[in-house]
Amino acid sequence: MASVFSRKSGGRVGASLATPTLLIATLAVLTVGVEFASADSASAKGNEGTRTHVVEIRQFKFFPATLDVKTGDTITWKNLDAAPHTATAIGQAWDSGKLSRNQSWSLKITGKGTVEYICAYHPAMKGKIVVK
Ligand code: CO
Repeated sequence: MASVFSRKSGGRVGASLATPTLLIATLAVLTVGVEFASADSASAKGNEGTRTHVVEIRQFKFFPATLDVKTGDTITWKNLDAAPHTATAIGQAWDSGKLSRNQSWSLKITGKGTVEYICAYHPAMKGKIVVK
């Protein structure tokens, strides 16, 4: 206690108080900037550099019809049509099941290669995933 009091009330009070105040203000700005940067990269790329891709289903088509992804990425299909649809791999390695209007279904990509898929209700609806 004695040493703290003696520092604050000692010699060049003006200079010793002004300098720490400036340092604290600068650090606070830098910290805010870093927090924004890390939040942005986390939402765009996920924890391990992976991404989430969205395929919209509208007007009886998949958008985009062909999607390039990487292993570890996630694909989310969202049905924007009034009619129900599915995203069903040819060979049925995976199947969203019935997606009503505004329903979504997600698939995490674990392998490599090209997979073609259709809507089980409307087989003319075709999509393709290319995993690199
Ligand atoms: Co369909």
